Amino acid sequence: ATTLGASAAQTGRYFGTAVSAGKLGDATYVGILNREFTMVTPENEMKWDATEPSQNQFSYSGGDRILNQAVSTGKRVRGHALLWHQQQPGWVQGLSGSALRQAAINHVTQVATHYRGQIYAWDVVNEAFADGGSGGRRDSDLQRTGDDWIEAAFRAARAADPGAKLCYNDYNTDGVNAKSTGVYTMVRDFKARGVPIDCVGFQSHLSGSAPSDYQANLQRFADLGVEVQITELDISGSNQAAVYGTVTRACLAVARCAGITVWGIRDSDSWRTGENPLLFDANGDKKPAYTSVLDAL
Ligand code: XIL
Repeated sequence: ATTLGASAAQTGRYFGTAVSAGKLGDATYVGILNREFTMVTPENEMKWDATEPSQNQFSYSGGDRILNQAVSTGKRVRGHALLWHQQQPGWVQGLSGSALRQAAINHVTQVATHYRGQIYAWDVVNEAFADGGSGGRRDSDLQRTGDDWIEAAFRAARAADPGAKLCYNDYNTDGVNAKSTGVYTMVRDFKARGVPIDCVGFQSHLSGSAPSDYQANLQRFADLGVEVQITELDISGSNQAAVYGTVTRACLAVARCAGITVWGIRDSDSWRTGENPLLFDANGDKKPAYTSVLDAL
């Protein structure tokens, strides 16, 4: 096949990108989006600050625009992200304890209910584990409401939208290390206790190389019975094209790897300013990294 989406579909997978609502009027951007991609993740529009700017006042305009554009062009949507310690609205930052817990669960319920039946997978919780060697939770306002905040969020999301796959999503969990093992232990515990979780997202913001055990790490999570997804792929460095190929082959080698999402379309769309980590250059032309992915799919 001649596009990322059609090539991924040959093995039953999707190929997605992050999308910004503000760029949906850019003809070059939308042209590539509609030609190449079969899955869309709103880059910022479904985050807490965007969807609940004041407590219990919900704003879905940006998220709805992206969802409608995607659905009307035959693409599916990954919802991102119901709970995260970043990009919280100001009013949340003044809460703690049971008031924050209640606000968080209400947020999950309201947003997942608004989009019920329309989301392929939700990143229910984003980036809750600490960097470094502890393997434990990140300290955050949400974590300080109690260790059970993550399972409470997953249960609320399942109740609100039983049709969406529910994912845990994080970065620096792309290889076997203390952080990814902490996530692995949580997922294993959730599966053992019947806490609803369907997928794990590996952001894969990579620099220079992929961990040598990237595929083995995806496989150990898949062996727990969850889907694995590469959710925010971007790669800097001179070996970019080769590393994109390695990551793509790793997903294809893992039966439960459902698809790959890159975190933007053109280098000029990337949050990693100046690193040119994406598959298309600023003109919208295909880079060697694009060819490497297409050849690997
Ligand atoms: C980034 C967006 O790309 C930026 O536009 C925004 O300013 C900050 O957030 N991990 C995530 C994403 O889960 O939501 C982040 O997206 C990148 C890191």
